[in-house]
Amino acid sequence: MQMVQDAAGLRATIRGWRSQGQTVGFVPTMGNLHAGHYSLVKLAKARTDRVVASVFVNPTQFGPHEDFERYPRTLAQDQAGLAEAGCDLLFTPDVATIYPFGPASSVSLHVPDITDTLEGTHRPGHFDGVATVVCKLFNLVQPDIAIFGQKDFQQLKVIERMVRDLSLPVKVMSAPTQRADDGLALSSRNQYLSADERAESVMIYQTLQQMRDLIAKGHARKVVEQAAASRLERAGFVPDYAAIRRAEDLSEPTDGDTDGLVALIAARLGSTRLIDNLLFD
Ligand code: PAJ
Repeated sequence: MQMVQDAAGLRATIRGWRSQGQTVGFVPTMGNLHAGHYSLVKLAKARTDRVVASVFVNPTQFGPHEDFERYPRTLAQDQAGLAEAGCDLLFTPDVATIYPFGPASSVSLHVPDITDTLEGTHRPGHFDGVATVVCKLFNLVQPDIAIFGQKDFQQLKVIERMVRDLSLPVKVMSAPTQRADDGLALSSRNQYLSADERAESVMIYQTLQQMRDLIAKGHARKVVEQAAASRLERAGFVPDYAAIRRAEDLSEPTDGDTDGLVALIAARLGSTRLIDNLLFD
């Protein structure tokens, strides 16, 4: 696996592949990689001749009081894991490579229903930061396909809509959430949890499953959402939301809708903010 830090080197390698008619898949990440990230790389490898991954902790998607500074940076370990997963090229730009002009042009993305709810409400500016960096990375890599995890379901929807609505020439694909044996969604942020919090954290996935089961039994959406939030609070979480939405566009379903739904939770446990979701079959 090749590694490159600068845009010119990245473009030169990809140009070489393109000249041989090879297709390119892309997996953007912020590093501290785990089996969830590697599943995206493996999916890309199955679909394209060459796979590019990026590791870049993007400052513009973190709020002023969020964990940008303490976000785990483990490049040597990531490099070994990516090579094993079949990645051909690892792009590890520094902040000056991605934002050479400082606070210059950015993508301010408004997607009706999608950017102004859930994470959009609780992390103001977050999706603008994500849209800006993903748009820039797409322009640098110019992949045929790009793969995102369902773990960050709203992010996936934002990217899908940005690509569709702004006619970006890339096909977005998604991959299912990888979980620990007890159900906790794998996340770089899980390592912030103390042993007690780690034991407690399984309640997020359990609550998502309970939300799905209650909706299937015909319970009203608002009641199910409130019961889920109370259950989390009683267990010591501070929930930002426990919501049931249409998976297609995150709009609010009406009671009686049972198909094509997704339950989403964001909650803090101690100083760690966890998010997860569950698509209903
Ligand atoms: P990061 O949190 O590193 O995630 C990179 C990709 O891995 C995202 O598409 C995310 O949804 C996926 N992922 C994370 N945990 C997963 C899991 N347990 N199972 C499956 N996929 C998982 O998301 C970002 O970085 C950034 O916002 C980024 C898109 C790179 C822009 O900066």
